[in-house]
Amino acid sequence: MQFKLKLTVLAAVAAVAGTAVAQDVQVVKIGHVAPLSGAQAHYGKDNENGVRMAIEDLNAQGITIAGKKVRFEIVAEDDAADPKQGTAAAQKLCDAKVAGVVGHLNSGTTIPASKVYNDCGIPHVTGAATNPNLTKPGYKTTYRIIANDNALGAGLALYAADALKLKKIAIIDDRTAYGQGVADVFKKIAASKGIQIVDEQFTTDKATDFMAILTAIKSKGPDGIFFGGMDPQAGPMLRQMEQLGLSNVKYFGGDGICTSEIAKLSGGAKTLDNVVCAEGGASLAKMPGGTAWKAKYDAKYPAQFQVYSPYTYDATFVLVDAMKRAGSTDPKVYTAKLGETSFKGVTSTISFESNGELKNPAMTLYVYKDGKKSALN
Ligand code: ALA
Repeated sequence: MQFKLKLTVLAAVAAVAGTAVAQDVQVVKIGHVAPLSGAQAHYGKDNENGVRMAIEDLNAQGITIAGKKVRFEIVAEDDAADPKQGTAAAQKLCDAKVAGVVGHLNSGTTIPASKVYNDCGIPHVTGAATNPNLTKPGYKTTYRIIANDNALGAGLALYAADALKLKKIAIIDDRTAYGQGVADVFKKIAASKGIQIVDEQFTTDKATDFMAILTAIKSKGPDGIFFGGMDPQAGPMLRQMEQLGLSNVKYFGGDGICTSEIAKLSGGAKTLDNVVCAEGGASLAKMPGGTAWKAKYDAKYPAQFQVYSPYTYDATFVLVDAMKRAGSTDPKVYTAKLGETSFKGVTSTISFESNGELKNPAMTLYVYKDGKKSALN
């Protein structure tokens, strides 16, 4: 009897101790949103991988905030690159009371979602959405850790005019916030450099047949085409340009076409050699931690790298860095610290302008050589 009682007491003590240990670790949820379904799912997967890798690395560090051990968990949402699903996903993350959000990927989803996050007081950091209008409302909850389309569009237009000395360019955009925005910037700067805009055509982010618009463009005899849009359109467009004999026409686009996947989606078309695309950061080789980070990423997620995962990785760390400095994981408390960020990330040392734009962003132009993306600067 005596012996049995002792055991019971011991078990009870152990159970209480176990609870105490569990309560000592605070679970902090970080939201992530990107297209995980549809034709842009490969971008979304890559972005999500970046956040997962950051969370693993943060948890391995064993972070303590306000004296409490913290374990981070991802809450991953799919917005299918659709603005309505974007705001629905944002609301879901608000309701789930995540501490912060990395995302979204597309400007078309990020811009309307930014209002939802502002209304519920949760900060979000995008490592992919590039339309300058994102930061126009001046929300204290919106941050971007790459250059915006003013830099990308201008960089490409100056390269077309000054380095390639092109004279006649046609413009196509997919009518999304991103496609239309980056095409408008390119058009303005190209025209100011004396390039003639010989045609403007429009498509959607669902289309795959561009024969009619490319035929119309061909009749104007351009030496370049600028496409504002993503790779599920750019890939087939390059194939169709080859079919139509537009084989010597340069093909420009922003970060949305600057993926690994475009080499596959263009299906071996020689026109891939004519692509010049721009990204709002340094090349992996020139990022402070780029080469080592990419090796680790490839080992974890073979053949999944696209464009933005180093930025979503850093975005996750930027949120946590602000929590650490604030001594709180409560967005009402730590959001104010995001504006004072000075964080040495994989991509750069990250600090923000007062409107949430990255300070001193880099910009890199790329071409494709033997199907491989290669930096020009
Ligand atoms: N940079 C692209 C956008 O803003 C992905 O939609």
